[in-house]
Amino acid sequence: MTTLAHYLNTPTIDPALSDVITTITDVGKTISQLLRKGALADILGEAGNQNVQGEDQKKLDVLANDLLLDALAQNAHCAGVASEELDHATPANADGSLLVLFDPLDGSSNIDINMAVGTIFSILPYQRQGQVSTDSDFLQAGNQQLAAGYLLYGTSTMLALTVADTVVMFSLDPDSGDYVLIEEAVQIDADTSEYAINGSNYRYWRAPMQQYIDELIDGHTGVRGRDFNTRWVAAMVGDVHRILCRGGLFTYPFDTKDIKKPGKLRLMYEANPMSLLIERAGGSATDAVNRILDIEPTDIHQRVPVVLGSKNEVEYVKNLHVQHANA
Ligand code: F6P
Ligand code: MN
Repeated sequence: MTTLAHYLNTPTIDPALSDVITTITDVGKTISQLLRKGALADILGEAGNQNVQGEDQKKLDVLANDLLLDALAQNAHCAGVASEELDHATPANADGSLLVLFDPLDGSSNIDINMAVGTIFSILPYQRQGQVSTDSDFLQAGNQQLAAGYLLYGTSTMLALTVADTVVMFSLDPDSGDYVLIEEAVQIDADTSEYAINGSNYRYWRAPMQQYIDELIDGHTGVRGRDFNTRWVAAMVGDVHRILCRGGLFTYPFDTKDIKKPGKLRLMYEANPMSLLIERAGGSATDAVNRILDIEPTDIHQRVPVVLGSKNEVEYVKNLHVQHANA
């Protein structure tokens, strides 16, 4: 049996990185316990304020955010923290070599209905050790990430992590409190018949995305010549987990619902960490055309359209977009 502690304790992984991952995953145990208590802990419901993106915060979002922030601020290797719930990054220990970004509770509309939610994290190098970190230090492309992962609080708590060339998965043993390795090299099939999209936004999509979904719905009667199946968890962390487990395509595409938002998902603490996991597991992650990991960020909270998952299917979506652009 390999625990997370064993896995991280190897000469090939920077001890600072191991330490920060341990801090995040330890907080994940606490968040997991809070979620297990559910309504009994009297912690559900709106906290009464809104986050940076103008969305209502649930109490647990705030709690998860504060727990992560406090724990990381005390970690000597962490030079700064950026979160979905904070307007600006918070400087931590100037001598630290790492920056951490996180979505403390992804899919928070699922909390009150006892469905899956998760914590997503991304770890970047800190280039100005010895000086106080600011927002601009975080503006690095996803291909610079040193590690990324998520905790999924589902029927059991799982950790997906990439800190080397592979993606590994751990399951939290509720008896021992250890994360136990269950999958050493996650791989996603190149082909799939399963896709995830919020179809209610159809009228706001661009023509190639509408064509793509039309083709999937036509199934064996249309150009694809086979049937496809929809799944939508309404928490990206759940949809990405399913894709790491059995393949598939997930998209939250560009839409015109709100012209200020080119997509719904956030590049730096949702799309980038998930894209690193997906690519390292043999899949692809794009904004429909371009590789997400190569996007140079301009804002820690910027949004991006996302198409990720099984390689051939992501490529198919890209080709449709390129054809439309050239038509
Ligand atoms: O963080 C944003 C998010 O909650 C994702 O986790 C999820 O994929 C998406 O929004 C759900 O969006 P919608 O409410 O449109 O289904
Ligand atoms: Mn989220």
